[in-house]
Amino acid sequence: MNTIRTAAIPVFIFSVLLRAQAASDFDWTKVTATKELNWTPCYSGLQCARLEVPLDYSAPDNRVAGIAIVKYSFKSPKSEYRGPILFNPGGPGVSGVDAIVASGEAFGTIFGEQYDIVGFDPRGIHYSTPAASFFKTDVDRAQWEHPGVDDTYPSLNSSYDVIPTQRARYQLLGTLAEIQDTKNILQHITTDNVARDMLSITEAFGFEKLQYWGVSYGTVLGATFASMFPDKVGRLIIDGVMDGEAWYSGNITNSMEDTDATLQTFFDRCAAAGPDACPFHAPTAAAIAANLMALSTSLIDTPIPVITNVSYGVFTYTYLRNVLFTGLYTPYTSFPLLAQGLAQLATGNATILYQMAEEIPYECPRGSQRDPVEFDQNDQEASIPTACGDGPVVTDTVAQLRESYEIGAKLSSFWDMFGNWRVRCSGWKVHRKGHFMGPMGASNTSFPLLVIGNTADPVTPLSSARRTSGYFPGSALLTYDAPGHTSLTAASSCLHNHMRQYFQNGTLPEAGTVCSPDEELFPSTSGNKTVKRSAQDLKLREALRQIHAAVQPMTLRHLPRLR
Ligand SMILES: *[C@@H]1O[C@H](CO)[C@@H](O)[C@H](O)[C@H]1NC(C)=O
Ligand SMILES: *[C@@H]1O[C@H](CO)[C@@H](O)[C@H](O)[C@H]1NC(C)=O
Ligand SMILES: *[C@@H]1O[C@H](CO)[C@@H](O)[C@H](O)[C@H]1NC(C)=O
Ligand SMILES: *[C@@H]1O[C@H](CO)[C@@H](O)[C@H](O)[C@H]1NC(C)=O
Ligand SMILES: *[C@@H]1O[C@H](CO)[C@@H](O)[C@H](O)[C@H]1NC(C)=O
Ligand SMILES: *[C@@H]1O[C@H](CO)[C@@H](O)[C@H](O)[C@H]1NC(C)=O
Ligand SMILES: *[C@@H]1O[C@H](CO)[C@@H](O)[C@H](O)[C@H]1NC(C)=O
Repeated sequence: MNTIRTAAIPVFIFSVLLRAQAASDFDWTKVTATKELNWTPCYSGLQCARLEVPLDYSAPDNRVAGIAIVKYSFKSPKSEYRGPILFNPGGPGVSGVDAIVASGEAFGTIFGEQYDIVGFDPRGIHYSTPAASFFKTDVDRAQWEHPGVDDTYPSLNSSYDVIPTQRARYQLLGTLAEIQDTKNILQHITTDNVARDMLSITEAFGFEKLQYWGVSYGTVLGATFASMFPDKVGRLIIDGVMDGEAWYSGNITNSMEDTDATLQTFFDRCAAAGPDACPFHAPTAAAIAANLMALSTSLIDTPIPVITNVSYGVFTYTYLRNVLFTGLYTPYTSFPLLAQGLAQLATGNATILYQMAEEIPYECPRGSQRDPVEFDQNDQEASIPTACGDGPVVTDTVAQLRESYEIGAKLSSFWDMFGNWRVRCSGWKVHRKGHFMGPMGASNTSFPLLVIGNTADPVTPLSSARRTSGYFPGSALLTYDAPGHTSLTAASSCLHNHMRQYFQNGTLPEAGTVCSPDEELFPSTSGNKTVKRSAQDLKLREALRQIHAAVQPMTLRHLPRLR
């Protein structure tokens, strides 16, 4: 049961596959769900348990879900123990277990060794049971998902029939989901229930109040928790904030407010960095933008075949759009590579850019067909029930989807990528009556929230962080003057000292606090920037580097479905 399926995992430049492999070393099928946390040693040095929670909190005696939980245990003397900090890496659909398996110790370094660092797979997802599944077998799923970015995430602007085709595709997927959902579990995979589960987890640790860090979609989860249980907030950081009001209204158009500004940082900093640090250099930002535009449109007429040592495929306009869009999430790692790839593309070779989103070809499982997947990379299945089931029923016709496209396209040139989420939800049919849909906010949470927003985040603009901070009077807004998605975009001792202070001492940053990253976007190749740092800062930086390396690619794996 434990073979790891590697198809449909775009290989970014990080070592996600190795980590996923490591994460598969533990057999979750042997861990039964219990009402108390029954810890078993796992993943060399961590502890695992499966918590039994009601599948339906309004009928608690009925069926149960089993939440997979991993902890990196506190190391300080018992008298200093401060309870669990729960982490959610976003999606919806990203595995919190894998995140903590890959970097739990680094979390301990950042927040302090008085805490248990806790990762959990939200209900329906990955190692948690029951698993959401739209397909009968892995092979069915692979055949649906496998074709690659061109088919899975087409640019809605790449041809006139993309919107109607995508709409029909998601009508089909929505119907498959309904057919496969004979046990009626999908309707219970919603954010409000995951928030309830977080309270159950906290209480199972023997604590009353939640301590939490959520990034990206994890901010919807965090803010939902604080709205539903304002007196159960111990410490709560939301980082890279999606506006919950928009989320529950089913219209997240505003998410794209800063997307083009993020791309603009590529042009600006590349122009400033010079041709050594930025191979796609031109004398002005405008010239670089024009060169990119020309290259992009040339792909419409002339897609490029690519063969690598891993796979082969055709590098198309849509492929480039995907690479550019996902690149905006992690500029500090992707921009230098993007610049190299674009310079190579200008010579007619698309290998580097192709490799930035390359997928490992699917291999059929050995032996007979496997059971419907319990423990697998059920990415779409983990994401769609929440992303679409949280909002209102969407019944958009092709004409309405085209209309939404026009609205979104006015806001951002990347709407051709992001608009897919609305199309996906137009096929989704499972909505539980009476689930939480807002309003977001609480006049008085039992501890103020810490809200973090970047100045140029491609999918969670600073305005969303500001608005969300407004829903929670007393919360503090910390601005991170950096491009990219969430504070994970780049290490910053300023920012992370604030996060640590918040957890340890309950100190909120002063109003108007702005932190800067410690890293450069296009590091100069001569690299003689010598800033003296304390040993503590260096240790922190190394820990942050580990978390970035582990969590970013997991988050990216789900892109650009939604963040
Ligand atoms: C493929 O080639 C790249 C270098 O271009 C190398 O880093 C990688 O390890 C190779 N992968 C395999 C599976 O051989
Ligand atoms: C393209 O560049 C790659 C290196 O990134 C090289 O291995 C390959 O041979 C080149 N392909 C062509 C057709 O020039
Ligand atoms: C969604 O939100 C945007 C921005 O607030 C708004 O302009 C638009 O009319 C809304 N509705 C649709 C269907 O896009
Ligand atoms: C769609 O593509 C056309 C060219 O094919 C381009 O002019 C237009 O700006 C694109 N629109 C968006 C929103 O990307
Ligand atoms: C807010 O809640 C805290 C803790 O629950 C309490 O001490 C405080 O008095 C409340 N403030 C207001 C304005 O209600
Ligand atoms: C918390 O406050 C105490 C006392 O003011 C201080 O000694 C300690 O360094 C602070 N901890 C952090 C993480 O800033
Ligand atoms: C590198 O250091 C030298 C000497 O300290 C200095 O003159 C030069 O401007 C520096 N270069 C950069 C890019 O900072």
